[in-house]
Amino acid sequence: MLVDRFDRRINYLRISVTDRCNLRCVYCMPPFGERKLRHKEILRYEEFLRIVRIAIKLGINKIRLTGGELLVRKGIQEFIPMLMALNGLDDVSLTTNGVYLEDHLDVLKAVGIKRINVSIDSLDRAKFKRITRFDYFTKVWEGIEKARDMGFHPIKLNVVVMKGINDNEILDFGRLAIEQPYHLRFIECMPVGLQANSLAFIPNAEIEEILVNEFGPLIPVSPGRHDGPATRYRFDGGNGEIGFISPISHSFCQDCNRLRLTANGMLLPCLLSGREVDIKDSLRRGCLDEELIEVFLEAVKSKPKCHPLSLDNHQKVYRKMCSIGG
Ligand code: 5AD
Ligand code: SF4
Repeated sequence: MLVDRFDRRINYLRISVTDRCNLRCVYCMPPFGERKLRHKEILRYEEFLRIVRIAIKLGINKIRLTGGELLVRKGIQEFIPMLMALNGLDDVSLTTNGVYLEDHLDVLKAVGIKRINVSIDSLDRAKFKRITRFDYFTKVWEGIEKARDMGFHPIKLNVVVMKGINDNEILDFGRLAIEQPYHLRFIECMPVGLQANSLAFIPNAEIEEILVNEFGPLIPVSPGRHDGPATRYRFDGGNGEIGFISPISHSFCQDCNRLRLTANGMLLPCLLSGREVDIKDSLRRGCLDEELIEVFLEAVKSKPKCHPLSLDNHQKVYRKMCSIGG
């Protein structure tokens, strides 16, 4: 079992299968993209599978696939079933920008994926284009609706609210969570990477107040087995949920249960700490499983107590979110 120095049990691995993305969200990427990893730097699918097998032996039972945008990576349709076929995983889910979601839903359903997160920061086509720099709103929205109609549940919609950009849509998102079964999740904008602009930051408490003033009290939803750092609510009579992920205004690090694996084979003990442990090097030297286990143990041992961002610390974290996957 993986237990860190602060007695947190680590059972969740987030895997970024690619650093590439077909969008350029303003808080994540510069207009012309980031320097891309070279092909040979990126783990092959069989390398990911070997790492996951070791992770399962160590008690990891929950996996989320992310990117960049995972659905742009060639072969992902074949990789997901191979991952799902491994014994020992209770939960495999994915976070996508939704552009290619519709094309993959049949395969995802067939292999038993139920939980999907889609990043969607605007419900307005022109605004969506302004934020992501691409005119894909309709395509994303059709993917979300089709996923709903096919019975995927929960479908979480991740929203990063930014002052002066999409904060005038808070009520529209609230209404969506009342009318539809979607789980809206407001994620505070983190000053990560060169793009992130701390001026855009809005604390989730402000969003909560705007929602409550319009729609009435938010009723807490009792925490579920798969809950991450979100605090969950619903409106009386609402079909969906509202969740808040507040990395800046409320530290949730005491309950952190995760490690991250980047596309180029680095294990990250924390999204924001800057530390990384190279697992690809061991893998490509043809090491025994024991050495990979050691690398996991080292990553867990170096998990910090909490990340450095807070309301009174305006430092930036210079990492590329697109290679970590949020
Ligand atoms: N702050 C908050 N959330 C971010 N994401 C990407 N960059 C940031 C940031 N700087 C989110 C995306 C996606 C999730 C994986 O991470 O919107 O929903
Ligand atoms: Fe792509 Fe996600 Fe970054 Fe947007 S936030 S550019 S969808 S990786």
